[in-house]
Amino acid sequence: GAPVKYNVSKLEPGQMVTVEWRGKPVYVVRRTEQVLENLVKVEPLLRDPDSEESIQPPYVDPENRSIKPHLLVLVGLCTHLGCAPMYRPEVGAADLGGDEWMGGFFCPCHGSKYDLAGRVYKGVPAPTNLDVPPYSYESDDVIVIG
Ligand code: FES
Repeated sequence: GAPVKYNVSKLEPGQMVTVEWRGKPVYVVRRTEQVLENLVKVEPLLRDPDSEESIQPPYVDPENRSIKPHLLVLVGLCTHLGCAPMYRPEVGAADLGGDEWMGGFFCPCHGSKYDLAGRVYKGVPAPTNLDVPPYSYESDDVIVIG
């Protein structure tokens, strides 16, 4: 399939959009400073915080899982059985573990949880972090996926 371009200039802090690439949903999120700080705090709760067993291109940071820290790009398919996880950025959500929930993605099919770098929590069905697709920047604001 052809690469897909997406211009992030209108993406607000905290906002997520879904871009279709090769029939798959790709999530693009503009992360805030607070989100980036919380990525460090949540690491003890994660199965593979350094993404050693997870799929991502070698040019993304293994911890924040992106090229530019504020812009996250992920394949939006749960690594358990492929449902689309929901974007749940609200810290402390009561239905997602209260104080332990730092915001992330929740899979409604069997309850897998991921942080705001797509890194999977311990103790859920999903075995690995959400995949990061191959992508690059054509300019400051234009992402090319694929
Ligand atoms: Fe997501 Fe099973 S498909 S938890």
